[in-house]
Amino acid sequence: MENLQTTYLGLKLRNPLIAGSCGLTNSVSNIKELAKKGVGAIVVKSLFEEQIQIEAEKVIKNDTDGVSTFNMAPDTLLSKRIFDYEEAYSYIYDFAKRNTLGKYLSFLEEAKRSVDIPLIASINCVSNQDWHAFSKKIEETGIDALELNIYILPSDWRRSGEDNEKIYYDIIREVRNYVNLPISVKIGYYFSSLAQSIKKLSECGIKGLVLFNRPYNTDIDIDKIALSHGPVFSTSEEFTHTLRWMSILSGHTHCDLSASTGVHDYKAFIKQLLAGANTVQIASALYKEGFEVIPEILKSTSVWMKKHDFNSIESFRGKLAKSNLENPAAIERVQFMKLYSGIE
Ligand SMILES: Cc1cc2nc3c(=O)[nH]c(=O)nc-3n(C[C@H](O)[C@H](O)[C@H](O)COP(=O)(O)O)c2cc1C
Repeated sequence: MENLQTTYLGLKLRNPLIAGSCGLTNSVSNIKELAKKGVGAIVVKSLFEEQIQIEAEKVIKNDTDGVSTFNMAPDTLLSKRIFDYEEAYSYIYDFAKRNTLGKYLSFLEEAKRSVDIPLIASINCVSNQDWHAFSKKIEETGIDALELNIYILPSDWRRSGEDNEKIYYDIIREVRNYVNLPISVKIGYYFSSLAQSIKKLSECGIKGLVLFNRPYNTDIDIDKIALSHGPVFSTSEEFTHTLRWMSILSGHTHCDLSASTGVHDYKAFIKQLLAGANTVQIASALYKEGFEVIPEILKSTSVWMKKHDFNSIESFRGKLAKSNLENPAAIERVQFMKLYSGIE
């Protein structure tokens, strides 16, 4: 096996392949197995901001003589419809938050003890509410880094791009107030000026950006005439979107870049590294191909490196970043007349 060592978020990794946050990184046994199969690091399943709220509502529901509060928005609950005293609500809400987090913290501690590769905790956040203090507790588990998955769909026409993007900066600033852990931020691509926003985000004191999260997509069931959801797992054709942006941005950010979405085999893995990724995350491939995909990717990458005389990841990483291309415009070409008009 060639030398695949690298660094990410200031951490030493035996290779750049990361098991991304998903349901398979939600148990200690899977985390042990993923490490055994050879991944360089693991991002554990996210703690969701909404999950904390739902837990709070459940506790409240049990304490209110069967009055259903399950579907009520936290704001409605806070309006004291159930509790005579706001303090009573606050107490139980805080208790529920601690309880949910307590389980997550114990899991992180046990998971961290059971493997000797970097383990990255994850919080899925949509707002700059009052959850930041919990990131301190996460740090105390001995975990190596924290990934913040921030996904804001800019669907409210009353809010400007600046309003939406401010949420990212506020969340990062708040979390940085509480922890010294290396922080990475996983984002989608709904920014008014993606390259500029990513550059600005990378200058906020974070150590890494994960490009990109794959949104939960809506679909329509025409038989039931109802909403349904799109495919949960990516396909192996979906890596190209991240690849373009990786190539455009690599070398221009103040933090590491981790590629995510559509990487299912060693070819897509190598392509992301050639485009400049520091690390590459996989999730759907773990579900579709099983954990065996990990040694397959690593072994085939090693064979490819040997064939091309690369003796380290750094010797080829970023070779096809836009800034290293002879014809940089090619990576930005989105309407290719010759190709489109040549297909009949
Ligand atoms: C079943 C499933 C659960 C996921 N859960 C999380 C999660 O809790 N937090 C998160 O940041 N991403 C989550 N993701 C997103 C993945 O980490 C990843 O960003 C996305 O699936 C694209 O990568 P892929 O093409 O390798 O699947 C989940 C993905 C899947 C398929």
